[in-house]
Amino acid sequence: MELLLLYLTGSLLHQLTCSAPVQDSSTQIHLQTATTGKFWHISDLHLDPTYHITTDPSKVCFSSKGFPVKNPGLFGDFLCDSPYQLILSAFSHMKHVEQQPEFIIWTGDSPPHVPPEELSTDAVISVTSNMTHTIRQFFPQLPVYPALGNHDYWPQDQLPAKTNAVYEAVAKLWAPWLSSEALATLREGGFYSQLIKPGLRVVSLNTNFYYTPNKATENLTDPGGQFKWLQDTLELSKQSLEKVYVIAHVPIGYLPYAKDTTAMREHHNEKLVDIFRSYSSIIQGQFYGHTHRDSIMVLLDQQGKPVNSIFVTPAVTPIKSPGEPFSNNPGVRMYLFDTQDYGLQDLWQYYLNLTEANKKEQPNWSLEYTMTEAFAIKDIQPQSLHELALKFEAPQSKDFQKYFTHFMVSYSDTITCEGVCKMVQVCSVHYLDRDSYSQCMKKRRAGRLN
Ligand SMILES: *[C@@H]1O[C@H](CO)[C@@H](O)[C@H](O)[C@H]1NC(C)=O
Ligand SMILES: *[C@@H]1O[C@H](CO)[C@@H](O)[C@H](O)[C@H]1NC(C)=O
Ligand SMILES: *[C@@H]1O[C@H](CO)[C@@H](O)[C@H](O)[C@H]1NC(C)=O
Ligand SMILES: *[C@@H]1O[C@H](CO)[C@@H](O)[C@H](O)[C@H]1NC(C)=O
Ligand SMILES: [Zn+2]
Ligand SMILES: [Zn+2]
Repeated sequence: MELLLLYLTGSLLHQLTCSAPVQDSSTQIHLQTATTGKFWHISDLHLDPTYHITTDPSKVCFSSKGFPVKNPGLFGDFLCDSPYQLILSAFSHMKHVEQQPEFIIWTGDSPPHVPPEELSTDAVISVTSNMTHTIRQFFPQLPVYPALGNHDYWPQDQLPAKTNAVYEAVAKLWAPWLSSEALATLREGGFYSQLIKPGLRVVSLNTNFYYTPNKATENLTDPGGQFKWLQDTLELSKQSLEKVYVIAHVPIGYLPYAKDTTAMREHHNEKLVDIFRSYSSIIQGQFYGHTHRDSIMVLLDQQGKPVNSIFVTPAVTPIKSPGEPFSNNPGVRMYLFDTQDYGLQDLWQYYLNLTEANKKEQPNWSLEYTMTEAFAIKDIQPQSLHELALKFEAPQSKDFQKYFTHFMVSYSDTITCEGVCKMVQVCSVHYLDRDSYSQCMKKRRAGRLN
């Protein structure tokens, strides 16, 4: 909004100070204002209700799993999940920074990372209910489209392919946001689709069915009938000339930080990639969470042409495992889209410098970067992201270094990613299926030996 206002003020000034007729640029600006819509994406809130400041480092938060937290701050700690204060600060920033988003997508994971015996079905439902009500208190007028995460169930990861107490509970909690048709499939399988407005549909998938640790679905070829439902839904959308945003928790493709590893089971990943390739002409964006880090993917068709833009949004929780070299600062983001064809124009990533917020006892949420400006690209459509990702491949690519700093939500500007680290990152952006990914790894490995 700040940017647009600046432009508008500029063109107004131009009109007031110049006697010449208003130039094209100002009409273009007005057009741009009229055709840009916005929405928020939040993910991985992971509320830890036990977080509190105390002199006993082993008692700060259950989510540190007994690991000492020596200097806990008001807004959290990199060894713990989110204190309620941190989540409130994120929502209050969202409320104040931007007055006109059309909706919010929320890609799951509300409960804390604690051993299963610390939680229960009731505890998981209670945290989800708390987050749902907190979001509604801040944004009573906004539609919210949620997706379930692997932590939104007890025991974690075990989301079943049939109805259960959790799916029934969220269908009640999310009733103010969803249609009765959407609530019906949510209750049965934890997924749904809904028309956001004429011509634009959200498809919220329960990709936890395909998550490797999920024993409840491990031998099923089509858990919950979701693949068939997805194909039918996309086919109907295509016939109705709709565009689609796909949202889900566990992302497709390969992990950007682990060699040869898909987030989902490999065969389920292959199946999803096939479906998305078939319907790429109507899918205008895919939005995921789960890794807690900021990354992009570009789906290529069989001929290597970029056909889909895919975004993994960073978490609100700052937690890392004690052994990990880095974490992420808390982040929330906004997307800008064209209201004619729903193509994505830009993303604005906001973050909290957690260290600084704790030091000053003030949560100064601010803009981390805007994608088009940071990388000098014209929009965030598949072709633009494809060209950007090609630039990452160059040795010492400045663009890649920036991308990697964003990956950690500016947690550090001294940690770098080279060699295998970079190879894994770069191959994961462009290659989402087994064959093309292993070719990329082979090629880059050979390149490194030369
Ligand atoms: C959510 O939980 C927090 C921390 O446990 C509590 O302070 C707050 O009142 C709860 N809010 C709602 C809406 O349930
Ligand atoms: C899935 O199949 C494997 C191998 O046949 C078996 O050991 C396992 O118990 C099965 N899992 C379920 C949930 O049925
Ligand atoms: C975050 O704040 C810390 C402490 O004030 C500072 O050292 C660091 O440079 C800041 N990080 C960024 C990305 O501004
Ligand atoms: C908040 O952060 C922004 C951008 O990082 C910075 O320019 C500004 O001075 C900060 N404000 C306060 C009160 O610390
Ligand atoms: Zn998570
Ligand atoms: Zn997750």
